[in-house]
Amino acid sequence: MNILELIEKRYTAKKYNADKPIPQEKIEDLKEILRLTPSSINVQPWKFTFVQNPEMKAKLASVSMHNTEKINQAQLLVVFSVADDLDAFQNIVNEFPSARRDWYNKIKANTPEADLKIWLSKQLYIALGVGLTASIALGLDSTAMEGIESDKYQEILNMTAYKPLFAMAVGYASEDDFNRIEVTPKSRRSQESVIESI
Ligand SMILES: Cc1cc2nc3c(=O)[nH]c(=O)nc-3n(C[C@H](O)[C@H](O)[C@H](O)COP(=O)(O)O)c2cc1C
Repeated sequence: MNILELIEKRYTAKKYNADKPIPQEKIEDLKEILRLTPSSINVQPWKFTFVQNPEMKAKLASVSMHNTEKINQAQLLVVFSVADDLDAFQNIVNEFPSARRDWYNKIKANTPEADLKIWLSKQLYIALGVGLTASIALGLDSTAMEGIESDKYQEILNMTAYKPLFAMAVGYASEDDFNRIEVTPKSRRSQESVIESI
């Protein structure tokens, strides 16, 4: 299947087959693929938490708004968290090659903290795009989910330096998922209205 066919096939799974396990090597590939995500000045301000443990997944599912059932059914939940304690992140930056460290320090010195945190958070969405695309390429279905209670995730995961922003459920969609592409075709604005060719 070529890349266009894969993107046409990918959709947001709303119901998973809870009994079909994901081969562990696919999960290991996904970890490495997320690690390789590009970011502005290669700043990599992230933590990807792979939750396969059913008890931990259920705890997180219970504070995930309308996504509870999906998370309980899906075999894997990946939580995307951004560096939130900038002093702790500075220790990571200090280990970067000097050119990148200097770039970051310059941006930090010239940007209000709130804006700096927004800029760091934006980098996480690139990883989400990579994760969604990688999942379908690995033959897996997925669900991007901003519908999570970030503070409660942070507490449950015992995070201090990072803040959960969103999550991605991964697994095999149920045969009777109403959102399957054959049942609910893709809905997008026309190419003419979103693409300009000069
Ligand atoms: C950043 C982001 C957050 C989303 N949050 C949720 C969510 O919490 N729950 C959910 O069921 N779908 C969520 N979605 C799925 C979108 O509704 C979906 O991608 C969009 O309607 C397009 O449909 P498609 O992915 O099936 O092509 C999210 C998607 C993105 C990109």
